[in-house]
Amino acid sequence: MQDNESDIYLILCIIYSGLASEVKRLKTGVAGMDELLEGGIPEDFFVAVTGEPGCGKTIFSIHFINQGIIEGDKCIYITTEESRESIIRQASQFGMRFGDAMNDGKLIIIDALMGREDRWSLQNLDPEALVSKIIEAKKELGYGRARVAVDSLSAFWLDKPAMARRYSYFIKKVLSKWNFTILAVSQYAITTAESFGWGIEHIADGIIRFRRLLRGGELKRFVIIEKMRQTNHSRYLHEIDVKPGVGMVVLRRVEMRAEDYKLPPEVLRKILEAKRKSEGIL
Ligand SMILES: Nc1ncnc2c1ncn2[C@@H]1O[C@H](COP(=O)(O)OP(=O)(O)OP(=O)(O)O)[C@@H](O)[C@H]1O
Ligand SMILES: [Mg+2]
Repeated sequence: MQDNESDIYLILCIIYSGLASEVKRLKTGVAGMDELLEGGIPEDFFVAVTGEPGCGKTIFSIHFINQGIIEGDKCIYITTEESRESIIRQASQFGMRFGDAMNDGKLIIIDALMGREDRWSLQNLDPEALVSKIIEAKKELGYGRARVAVDSLSAFWLDKPAMARRYSYFIKKVLSKWNFTILAVSQYAITTAESFGWGIEHIADGIIRFRRLLRGGELKRFVIIEKMRQTNHSRYLHEIDVKPGVGMVVLRRVEMRAEDYKLPPEVLRKILEAKRKSEGIL
């Protein structure tokens, strides 16, 4: 090879390796959140969104889907805890027009709560039925990058928590063949986590954990990125807020030690004891 040819070859190799290592990211649609994630959630990732009731999991998922609608992604929202209408209403409070997006063929909301007989409802919480319904929805929406929010995935193993890991592995494996970036909402129950170990958390490519606390008589909400593969993400707790007419925003980094927001070990022990007693294990 001539000298100038080998130089060109070297330059091409550098450009190619740069392109290959570049991670494409999807914006979350929440002001201030992408900065914690080096720009967003990597494409094709399966991300667990966890936290206690009322801490913002659904609202975060709604923002993620709305951002997809804005960017022309194919969007699928599965709702198990609220009806389709409730999700549309919640989104509309933040100026997001989910009804229009559905009419325009950009969004399908699969209702797994109401048990209706329509095409985009699930009659029971069966992981195989979920996966085939998601694939059917994707075919309906057509070719292209897709976002899926399953709110919640943990509802699918509500009465059999020991299946959490197997079910989430199955769902991730099947859906990974498609160009889906998935948010899997997982309700955080101390008792379930302690009794059955990690379910979705090891299988997920990322974990976004929301928290809520009473501070000085006021309800405060927080977020921490506990895991995001291929990402130099923030490792700090941030305070968030849900603003009327706007939705979720990240406010500021807070100085808090884990002991400040985790339950004291004694309280945790008592909760577990009560749970085991009620199940007749003790
Ligand atoms: N229009 C609004 N303006 C201000 N705050 C709102 C508005 N709508 C909802 N919220 C706040 O968001 C909370 C609900 O958040 P979200 O539904 O995302 O919780 P979640 O984590 O999904 O809870 P769950 O596990 O019970 O489903 C409400 O309890 C309320 O505090
Ligand atoms: Mg919710």
